[in-house]
Amino acid sequence: MLRPLFVLAFAALATANVNQCRSKLLKGCNCGKIYFESQTFFAVNCTNQAFRNTDMLQELPEETQMLIFTGNHVPVLEMNVFGEELDLSELKVVDMSNNGIREIKGKAFHHVPSVERLILNHNNISIANEDDGNFHHPRVFSNFYNLKELHLTNAFADNTDAALANDLHDIFVNSNLTKLYKLHLEQNEIKFFKDENVFCDLPDLHDIYLGDNSIPRLNFNLRCLNKLRYLDLENNNISKFSEADLSHFESLATPGRHFTLEIRGNPFRCDQAIRNLYNWLLTTRVEVRNKDHLECHQAKYGNKYILNLKNLAAAKHAKISQGITVLLIVLTIVLLTLLATYAYLKKDKVKGRFGPVVEALTRKVHYTTIDSQDV
Ligand SMILES: *[C@@H]1O[C@H](CO)[C@@H](O)[C@H](O)[C@H]1NC(C)=O
Ligand SMILES: *[C@@H]1O[C@H](CO)[C@@H](O)[C@H](O)[C@H]1NC(C)=O
Ligand SMILES: *[C@@H]1O[C@H](CO)[C@@H](O)[C@H](O)[C@H]1NC(C)=O
Ligand SMILES: *[C@@H]1O[C@H](CO)[C@@H](O)[C@H](O)[C@H]1NC(C)=O
Repeated sequence: MLRPLFVLAFAALATANVNQCRSKLLKGCNCGKIYFESQTFFAVNCTNQAFRNTDMLQELPEETQMLIFTGNHVPVLEMNVFGEELDLSELKVVDMSNNGIREIKGKAFHHVPSVERLILNHNNISIANEDDGNFHHPRVFSNFYNLKELHLTNAFADNTDAALANDLHDIFVNSNLTKLYKLHLEQNEIKFFKDENVFCDLPDLHDIYLGDNSIPRLNFNLRCLNKLRYLDLENNNISKFSEADLSHFESLATPGRHFTLEIRGNPFRCDQAIRNLYNWLLTTRVEVRNKDHLECHQAKYGNKYILNLKNLAAAKHAKISQGITVLLIVLTIVLLTLLATYAYLKKDKVKGRFGPVVEALTRKVHYTTIDSQDV
């Protein structure tokens, strides 16, 4: 008796789902209004549906404002992921994280003029691959005219460091991302950029996230970024900043402009450069986050030491004041010795001049003692 009812209820639910998504291909996805970052979105959420291609995305409801397509397995994003016909002028957010994406075909993203946030975190993307000319698609983001945030955290295949360095600049030049505001490139094993002007074609860039890479020094141009307000370089491989680097940072923070820097978790060396950095930290207009957690590394007698910058400075002060104390003691001893020698050499003269005074004093003490005994 219960069974038909159950089936009916299930069918109703499924229909509701299909109705909201209005496509059988989108079965398993959730379509409907959600509240996200204090806004309401019509979202299509296809998380962990074991999809192996993106065919169903050609049937997205046109009112879709947010697409969450994560945790599936789609090694290749083919041409026209969203099809030829769809009008997705409402689409603002596309999240395609964690899909094992290895390749994005040149014309994969069409009809995405209004997308403001694209998230491709935790994929396995190869941009350049010499074996296969197809992999090189510097215009991969060229249709995102209104893109403000690009999230590429751990997006690229491991050991693509050199290739990535070669291609990032081409991508940013060719993709015309004139409105890009925020760029996430964390956890990509980046060591260097082929061109130090790698970010210079992103005129509206405000925030760059480069944490958890292997960048050894400030090896890209910041001066071309007129709007930059945040640079994250935490957990990289930076051993020092040159004086020129520090003045570049300084030039980004003016009375009319705020600039914040995050450099924690780098293996700074304990040397003159770290002293310069420390002195700069005391006076700079740049807001350096987690200043108190900065450390420098030192090898001494075969042991490795990690020193907190603050303690290093305190130790330096302590050493200086110790030095001054020793110097003062030595000087005092020398002075006393000189005085004593002088007094010894001139003892007769001294006695002659002070003799009567001494005698008078002795007498006085004598009388005082007697007086007190009387009482
Ligand atoms: C999408 O769906 C997954 C699983 O159903 C859920 O965990 C996640 O929070 C949803 N995302 C949003 C933005 O609602
Ligand atoms: C990423 O790609 C490499 C080869 O390009 C492969 O060995 C590795 O298993 C892939 N990782 C994932 C999570 O797909
Ligand atoms: C780049 O985008 C701007 C507007 O966002 C547009 O005016 C310009 O024509 C585009 N340039 C190219 C080469 O596509
Ligand atoms: C970090 O830099 C040191 C030299 O300063 C180098 O030996 C080491 O290989 C670098 N590490 C990485 C992960 O690039």
